Amino acid sequence: MKLSARAGGPLSGTAEVPGDKSLSHRALLIGASAVGETRITGLLESEDVQATASALSALGISITRDAGGAWRVQGRGSGGLSEPETVLDLGNSGTGVRLLMGLLASQPVTATLTGDASLSSRPMGRVLAPLAEIGAVAEARAGDRLPVKLNGTADPIPIAYTLPVPSAQVKSAILLAAMNTAGVTTIVEPVPTRDHSENMLIYFGADLSVTKTEDGGRRISLTGPADLAGREVAIAGDPSSAAFPAVATLMIPGSEIVLPNILVNPLRAGLYQTLVEMGADIRFEGERRVAGEAVADLIVRASKLGAVEVPARRAPAMIDEYPILAVAAAAAHGTSTFHGLGELRVKESDRLAATAAGLEACGIGVETGPDWMRIQGAGGPPPGGGSVAVHHDHRIAMAFLVLGLAARAPVEIDDASPIATSFPEFVGLMNGLGARIEAPEAAA
Ligand code: S3P
Repeated sequence: MKLSARAGGPLSGTAEVPGDKSLSHRALLIGASAVGETRITGLLESEDVQATASALSALGISITRDAGGAWRVQGRGSGGLSEPETVLDLGNSGTGVRLLMGLLASQPVTATLTGDASLSSRPMGRVLAPLAEIGAVAEARAGDRLPVKLNGTADPIPIAYTLPVPSAQVKSAILLAAMNTAGVTTIVEPVPTRDHSENMLIYFGADLSVTKTEDGGRRISLTGPADLAGREVAIAGDPSSAAFPAVATLMIPGSEIVLPNILVNPLRAGLYQTLVEMGADIRFEGERRVAGEAVADLIVRASKLGAVEVPARRAPAMIDEYPILAVAAAAAHGTSTFHGLGELRVKESDRLAATAAGLEACGIGVETGPDWMRIQGAGGPPPGGGSVAVHHDHRIAMAFLVLGLAARAPVEIDDASPIATSFPEFVGLMNGLGARIEAPEAAA
């Protein structure tokens, strides 16, 4: 389904963005490994999270949604999964498939995992390598791609592992395997990545400690087997989803919105830090801790944006936000440069290439290298007028619809269906704030 976005009046109002995707996967997976019931409120009800819930059901875990909208997971303790009778299809979800492989690696079950065309083209070797050291045996398609047949082990080995790529998914897969591994598993990450698994494991009662390394990295140790008890988990709004209405508000003159209850973990907040450096008027109010995570209300006002240089070290704290940051940079005064973007090449699409192609289609000057991007800001509304290929990627789809809302001519995307993987309410929420996102026939 195609969609088109065009400029209109200012955005205003309060936007309740759905629950954080990373926390939603983790609450289901860790809840399944605790003893007793875990009750989750604010769970993201999107295709990606649904795929993780369905896979856990196939592994013998009861997961239900109650009349009030809370999800109840009947945990069976560490190592409590049953062998599935069917192939586990994780759809588009890299987090779902990689974390689940970790969970399965240290249990004596055999499972075959697969995904859609986009997920089946993404590298799994980065997870399979440490899981092999733990003792799991995997068979994958050429290039370590899905489908993967994974034989978990009954005698997992506690490993010491230094992450070769800054990936929270790889770190989390090892931590989930460590829950059912006797002894101390240690992970060193030279560049810090999102620490939701660590925070949630501690919240559920795991024996986990984190220390800083001399060169600014982190060392995480978990002593297993973990003896976790079911908990109440309230999931805050997803900062990666909030980024779309936030950037639209900054770009459309006269706009002001409130985004209540947003996860503001510093290892996820790189986009907001960068926007503030560009001159964005974003206020964080009422900061509080919920289920081991920092949460705040955001107030965003239209702002004149300047160019920015984003250092490579910040990339993990905003790895999913470069498409929407590129859109903000397209309206800024001056030339922006983003460094350290190598990992963007292996996301739901090659996001570096897809973002650059979308900007070009919308009349913005852009240059790219293997791991960097330079954008010539229009210093006001970008030209727009293009048709953008989203390459099965939800964040490319949403970012270029936002560009259309602030552009001189409407922007069309070729496929809106991937938006349902992370933010099914996106179009309704944006239009509720005053945006004009419609099917192209309606817009004509
Ligand atoms: C995620 C980690 C990141 C991110 C993804 C969610 C997570 O992936 O891009 O959307 O929940 O751990 P990598 O670990 O591959 O960087």
